[in-house]
Amino acid sequence: MKRIGVLTSGGDAPGMNAAVRAVTRAAIGKGYEVIGIQRGYNGLLNGETVKLGARDVSNIIQHGGTMLYTARCKEFKEWEYVLKAKQRCDELNLVGIVVIGGDGSFRGAADLSKAGVPCIGLPGTIDNDISCTEYTIGYDTAMNTAMEMVDKIRDTAMSHDRCSLVEVMGRNAGWIALNVGTAVGAMAILTPEVPFSLDDVIAKMEASKKDKKQHFIIVVSEGVGNSEAIAKEIQERTGIEARATILGHVQRGGSPTVRDRVVASEMGYYAVNLLDQGIGNRVVAMRDSKIVDFDIKEALSMKKPFDENLYNIANEISF
Ligand code: ADP
Ligand code: F6P
Repeated sequence: MKRIGVLTSGGDAPGMNAAVRAVTRAAIGKGYEVIGIQRGYNGLLNGETVKLGARDVSNIIQHGGTMLYTARCKEFKEWEYVLKAKQRCDELNLVGIVVIGGDGSFRGAADLSKAGVPCIGLPGTIDNDISCTEYTIGYDTAMNTAMEMVDKIRDTAMSHDRCSLVEVMGRNAGWIALNVGTAVGAMAILTPEVPFSLDDVIAKMEASKKDKKQHFIIVVSEGVGNSEAIAKEIQERTGIEARATILGHVQRGGSPTVRDRVVASEMGYYAVNLLDQGIGNRVVAMRDSKIVDFDIKEALSMKKPFDENLYNIANEISF
């Protein structure tokens, strides 16, 4: 019996379950057996696998997290372990693996493809920091969660005439901050991609205060950091009471949005089609709202320009 493997790797993201379901159902539909590999590449090395039938992926499309568990596997950066994994794939009779994760996971998938196991990468991360694709599974849910949290924070910031700095995730990428900041009407959005001056932020706050603005929301990307220190400095220099909130892992959980479920379903189906044609060493991506695929190494070398246009619009309409 032909078999396809599926695993999730790196930080989890809402929609990973929808992708696992899509891969499983698409593969079964084409006559494959499906092997779920638990805890990313670790599970491949340790033999943590589970056979996935059609009903094993019932009732998961609406859940955050990943039913396959996930992990970061240091050993997999060494060729010796990639070869071990290749051996495990041969024992499991896998014709290929769908790897759902971020850049690091794709590097592992490229190595495993080179060792002779066709792999297809699916972009799964809340950060939207994968250059070859305009969208990553989990991004929309995380942004909506963060937006709802900032809306709640605004209630209390408004009641106390305060400045609230809200730090959102994104590792070194400011995509969540940019979109959430725009969506909540933040006074300032601080991201690693665009240099900013705290003097300018403070000057803007003071000008708006003169124009009767009494509370302020500033969205800070994790890659900028220092939210507590920035809040302290704003309070000292403006006299406006300031508080910092780091949203943290709340952004990684929860039921995936329509967009995440749909994109995960499309990408999962697309990945199985590639493997079924004997194609490996590819990453599935979204370009101009269409699902496409790229060579993994080529995908990893791409650059994604930050949306400075949106950044400028957001800035110009908040004062
Ligand atoms: P995250 O951004 O959440 O860490 P990634 O998908 O970027 O997710 O990385 C997941 C893990 O992939 C990394 O922590 C690393 O252990 C693993 N990995 C496997 N092979 C490689 C490789 N060749 N290069 C880098 N990381 C790899
Ligand atoms: O890559 C997703 C992400 O949530 C980043 O935004 C963040 O920097 C990181 O993972 C946090 O990782 P951990 O869950 O290991 O703390």
